[in-house]
Amino acid sequence: MKKYLKLLLAVMLIAIMAFAVAACGDNNAEDDGILTLATSADFPPYEFYDGDKIVGIDAEIAALIAEKLGMTLEIHDMDFDSVVTSVQTGKYDIGMAGLSITEDRKEIVDFTVTYAGGKQAILVPKDGKVKGADDVVSGDYKVGVQLGTTGDTMVSWDIEPERYNKYSDAIIALTGGKLDCVVLDNEPAKKFAQANKDLVVLDEAFADEYYAIVYNQDHPELGQKVDKALQELINDGTVAKIIAKYISEE
Ligand code: ARG
Repeated sequence: MKKYLKLLLAVMLIAIMAFAVAACGDNNAEDDGILTLATSADFPPYEFYDGDKIVGIDAEIAALIAEKLGMTLEIHDMDFDSVVTSVQTGKYDIGMAGLSITEDRKEIVDFTVTYAGGKQAILVPKDGKVKGADDVVSGDYKVGVQLGTTGDTMVSWDIEPERYNKYSDAIIALTGGKLDCVVLDNEPAKKFAQANKDLVVLDEAFADEYYAIVYNQDHPELGQKVDKALQELINDGTVAKIIAKYISEE
């Protein structure tokens, strides 16, 4: 009898150890209860600083997604160019940064459903020389973009833009006369123009883009849950309400 008991204990011990090893090996942050989010908080109204807190449309939606999944949201701010790669390499669970869905990005990360849209707009000084999209790509003007954005990719087909890690630095260069225009998403462009009386957004803009959250392709389980939670928040009108709070229709 004793012998069997020992055997049973040994088997149980092995089972427990195997379980523990499996749990540790699963590096998918799901089991630590923390949803890590990579962003670039220089993009009002989607993500920006209010004091030392990151707020905005993306931050609010992400907080509700985490709540739905019973997880704690942890936001990590970085240069925009690192957002997608940090999710691709598994450093962070998801990326949310007014990220436009593109074929290039789809090769290395997966996208959720889209929750908002935008287009690349042209921000100029009042009475500036750039009057439209043709001027932007003419090669006659100094054009600023954020490194790694769709605006960067788009104008780089024709010209060599000045690439900035943070939009805030591109705006400083623009107001300081070092640039003729900055190409960036229309809603952030409007916010920067509202904050700088000397800047205006041109009426003409480039093609429509759609924003979504990115997640890891090799470990898509958590990302798929995020996708589902986001879809629910879209369906019940929560996302529209959050967007309306930050963007007024004029
Ligand atoms: N929508 C553009 C893109 O996906 C720009 C996004 C920039 N986002 C940011 N948080 N700085 O490339």
